[in-house]
Amino acid sequence: MSAIEDAIRRRRSIRGLTGPALAPAEVEELVTLALTAPAPHHTQPWRFAEISSPRRDALATAMGDAWRADLDADGVPPAQRDRALARSHRRVIEAPTLLLGCIVADGLNHYADDRRARAEWGLAQHSFGAALQNILLAAASRGLGAYWISAPLYAPQAVRTALDLDATWEPQALVCLGHPTEDYVPFDRPSPDLGRHFVRR
Ligand SMILES: Cc1cc2nc3c(=O)[nH]c(=O)nc-3n(C[C@H](O)[C@H](O)[C@H](O)COP(=O)(O)O)c2cc1C
Repeated sequence: MSAIEDAIRRRRSIRGLTGPALAPAEVEELVTLALTAPAPHHTQPWRFAEISSPRRDALATAMGDAWRADLDADGVPPAQRDRALARSHRRVIEAPTLLLGCIVADGLNHYADDRRARAEWGLAQHSFGAALQNILLAAASRGLGAYWISAPLYAPQAVRTALDLDATWEPQALVCLGHPTEDYVPFDRPSPDLGRHFVRR
């Protein structure tokens, strides 16, 4: 079995993370791997930021405020809302290393019609997923733990403001990275099922 296939099979979302934070050089190695992802029209539509501890509270609070408004509009009971918000805040604060991934529209085609404009943005999002998967696989192959947090996608302006990011950066996801805690057990995950997910025509 090749090393890459081994990493694909072994990768799981590891939410039990402990320090120390990754060394700056290791973060740069992982981001460099992300920057080799396939992308539409020979573009490089991704941007990444490593979020230092002093910026975390502002980030988590801004995303939390936006999420609280959504949860209230959905009529979620306050106790349930506050538990979810506190857990989310904790995850951002406590991640040993925290990366934010964004998309930019550099080099994408511009279309007047909504159908093609959405498809074009979809191309960038596909590429972003490939870039993030590079990070997750590389982390798994190094024995690190990592998982994806999609909250920034729901509160892009709050994230840009909290982190003082360029207006052209469209926040997509956070990646928490660190060392797996000994007791963390990944969620159950169904085995790959070709019968359900694959057809030949
Ligand atoms: C687009 C996307 C968004 C996700 N958002 C979150 C998230 O916000 N919080 C979280 O804990 N996991 C998140 N995950 C991780 C998934 O829950 C996880 O990949 C899935 O349950 C399969 O488990 P595995 O990664 O261990 O194979 C996300 C994954 C993807 C691809």
